[in-house]
Amino acid sequence: MPQLRNPLNVIRWNSDKHYIDALAQIGMPVVDTRWLEPDVEWSKRDLHNRFPAREDFVVKPAVSAGSADTGRYTATDADSRRLAINHAKRLLDAGRSVMVQRYMPEIDTFGESALVFLHGEYSHAIHKAAMLVGEDTGEDTGYTREAMEPWQPSELEIKAAQDIITQVRRLVPGRSMKSRPLLYARVDFVVRGDKPPLLMELELVEPSLYASLAPGALDRLASAILREVAYGNDANNDVSALAHA
Ligand SMILES: Nc1ncnc2c1ncn2[C@@H]1O[C@H](COP(=O)(O)OP(=O)(O)O)[C@@H](O)[C@H]1O
Ligand SMILES: [Mg+2]
Repeated sequence: MPQLRNPLNVIRWNSDKHYIDALAQIGMPVVDTRWLEPDVEWSKRDLHNRFPAREDFVVKPAVSAGSADTGRYTATDADSRRLAINHAKRLLDAGRSVMVQRYMPEIDTFGESALVFLHGEYSHAIHKAAMLVGEDTGEDTGYTREAMEPWQPSELEIKAAQDIITQVRRLVPGRSMKSRPLLYARVDFVVRGDKPPLLMELELVEPSLYASLAPGALDRLASAILREVAYGNDANNDVSALAHA
């Protein structure tokens, strides 16, 4: 029987970006987010009122990957605002939770970093350039290809990522999380120069670990998997449990 690593409880928790809210509530540095939930009826006016009055903002679904269904809007431009309302409405009508964030201008100047940890230990990092070019009009444009290069994170970044991973092990429901480190964790930050980084997202599901961009990363991953095998299995690792997830 194939085994899940990271385990099912982690995969469940991490598949929906509401974890950002859970992290915000315990004071972790995350991108400030406004949540629109599909369980209530949203009029266009309600949506208009929930968007920022000035500066660019982002509308994206709570469950996504590769920038799918994610758009960037200009708050003071009526056409852009109308497209943002349509975008949010489309997602909500499909029963999806919507996230509204200020467009982080640091993404354009400093970009985004992704720090990879194997069994809780820092392994390597990469850097991505800004990805959002404009509005989401509902056309299926697929996933955005990311422009990446190796990255040397600051001590501050590594420490901030470690703090988040420590908190995650407390927040995820389930026994095994308390006693075992995560096989892998990728912490994506908005880099902000001298200011502390902010969490854009945490990847405990997606196996894009960019091992080819860092010397030794693949060997470290192989060693971590061997240690994982030695831990043995429990119900959280059983792939058949996914069918009931
Ligand atoms: N608030 C934001 N400010 C600036 N850029 C953003 C913001 N939110 C998302 N983006 C851009 O969109 C990309 C995808 O968003 P992200 O939250 O990482 O979701 P996913 O990777 O799961 O699609 C990011 O890598 C970033 O380039
Ligand atoms: Mg991302």
